[in-house]
Amino acid sequence: MKGVILAGGLGTRLFPLTKITNKHLLPIYDRPMIYYPIECLVNAGVDDIMVVTGGRKSGDFLSLLGNGSEFGLKHLNYTYQEGEGGIAEALGLAEHWAGDDDICVVLGDNIIEKNIKAAVEDFRAQGKGAKIMLKKVHDPERFGVASLDGDKVSKIVEKPKQPESDLAVIGIYMYDNRVFDIIKTLEPSNRGELEITDVNNWYIQDGTMTYEVLEGWWTDAGTFPSLHKAANLVADGGANNLD
Ligand code: G1P
Repeated sequence: MKGVILAGGLGTRLFPLTKITNKHLLPIYDRPMIYYPIECLVNAGVDDIMVVTGGRKSGDFLSLLGNGSEFGLKHLNYTYQEGEGGIAEALGLAEHWAGDDDICVVLGDNIIEKNIKAAVEDFRAQGKGAKIMLKKVHDPERFGVASLDGDKVSKIVEKPKQPESDLAVIGIYMYDNRVFDIIKTLEPSNRGELEITDVNNWYIQDGTMTYEVLEGWWTDAGTFPSLHKAANLVADGGANNLD
């Protein structure tokens, strides 16, 4: 399995912090944001990693990360997303590099407390399809929201005004190699992006989507409140987590 970290975009929700740099280079307490998704993959045993970057200061990833020796890696791969085509478009850029492998995708602004190694191993054993990770939240309208039917996910709605559940789809996704063909069939959403939620709904229709509820804390860091929360969670180990 290969790992893809999505670290592009203009980060407009964090203006002016992102006016001159890439969101994923901003600090989360004592380290740049991009360190956390790399560690997430390495801790899960995924050490063949591509960083998809874009927007401002994309060259700074190379200066910061090099070949990833700080994370015990021999090599890191990079590619560049032009414009703001969305998460699914960014993932599509990894197709030529992915070859026939399965993929674990981590959004560059998602930070978790614990190790997802067991989920990655379950997905390897699954053999086909996709796996998402869910987490109960207070503010589901900010995320992709999953509805469950027994032990299956029945649908995901992206940022619903009236969420049917409080289960957010977090930014860690596992896909078989069909994902790249699925991305080619997507149409841009109202926000003009190829949505990862559309990819996930494809796998739900296919009957090959599984899920796990994430243990430990999780946050994204793409807004001022969540950036602040992320720094606090890292600093105090989740001691003051209100979720
Ligand atoms: C993206 C996804 C959303 C997911 C979230 C997790 O939202 O579209 O489904 O719940 O990441 O962080 P974004 O924050 O990029 O709009």
